[in-house]
Amino acid sequence: PPISLKESFKNDFYIGTALSRSQINQSNSKTTALLEKEFNAITPENDMKWEQIHPQKDTFFFDVADKYVALGEKHNMHIIGHTLVWHSQLAPWMQEVKDSLTMAQYIETHINTIVKRYKGKIHTWDVVNEALNEDGSFRTSNFYEVMGEDFIALAFKLAAKADPDAKLVYNDYNLWKPEKRAGVVKLVKNLQAQGIKIDGVGMQAHWSLEGPTLEDIENSILAYAALGVKVSFTELDVTVLPNPWDLDGAAVEQSYAQFEGDPKMNPYPVALTDAAQMQLAKRYEDIFKLFLKHKDKIERVTFWGVNDGQTWLNNWPINGRTNHPLLFDRNFEPKKAYHTVLALKNK
Ligand code: G3I
Repeated sequence: PPISLKESFKNDFYIGTALSRSQINQSNSKTTALLEKEFNAITPENDMKWEQIHPQKDTFFFDVADKYVALGEKHNMHIIGHTLVWHSQLAPWMQEVKDSLTMAQYIETHINTIVKRYKGKIHTWDVVNEALNEDGSFRTSNFYEVMGEDFIALAFKLAAKADPDAKLVYNDYNLWKPEKRAGVVKLVKNLQAQGIKIDGVGMQAHWSLEGPTLEDIENSILAYAALGVKVSFTELDVTVLPNPWDLDGAAVEQSYAQFEGDPKMNPYPVALTDAAQMQLAKRYEDIFKLFLKHKDKIERVTFWGVNDGQTWLNNWPINGRTNHPLLFDRNFEPKKAYHTVLALKNK
């Protein structure tokens, strides 16, 4: 039988990937072939975000989301909805709502309409995305300014009612940080104390070769699992490029653009060197060893993209770089990191 990621880890956790709009629309492509062979879970990279799916108060746009769900059903996949309530990529009309009752009504319409449409088809929802600051306090988004932290409980309550069988997740980045971890623990306990259903914490996992440490990641897995919820790694990638702010400190953050085209910001314009391939492979090996150690606590590991040619990291935080953060390269070929990860299960 062909050895693949999904086969290798089938008794451990789902192996997922994000899909961009063009990947959802394509069929019979190299992407589709890899998708079928390697993955058993999918997340829409952008097409279920509020600005896309609910661009005007009375207008929903379901074309791409419907295709996405049909694709997942065709391949028998675990289908994720991303994301119901997020301050970013929010429709402009929703950004302008300043009254809490009105906002609650609009959130209700949004969640009911979308979650019910895909009831029994979307298996897991990222219900609330990125509601916390790095120190674990609540982010001052429009949702928070208008409703306080109540918007979170409301969203989970509505999602649970709209599809009682769907798994409901709180999703955020840098959840390995001790202060942010404490904020999530508080958030989950608070929902549980109100009798509101939450099934999982999604650790996005936009990581690098250097960090976070395995110890910080492990401490978060343990802290979330201790609450009785599952952990998922929802947006895994490992950047191999330097961060502009590491070079020049805070001043750089004002103008990342000044580094566009700077060769030291793009050290692998064609392919990774062998040494860098090895480093990436070692990092992925360490990460997956940790995941396997805690497989009883982990529901899913999703990569944020199918292959290096299509990752958001080619354009973040500065445009036009050649990043190599995933297990498949620009030719859809498996990298050394892929073989190292597979070898953990196929000795
Ligand atoms: O579709 C438009 C296109 O019409 C337009 O010409 C072009 C010009 O800028 O922009 C295109 O939209 C871009 C979109 O991706 C689709 O490619 C947006 O500018 C761009 O901002 C957007 O970036 C997405 C980002 O979320 C936005 O915050 C990335 O693809 C997506 O990977 C990223 O995903 C997020 C997760 O949802 C949440 N966690 C963090 C993660 C990484 O930022």
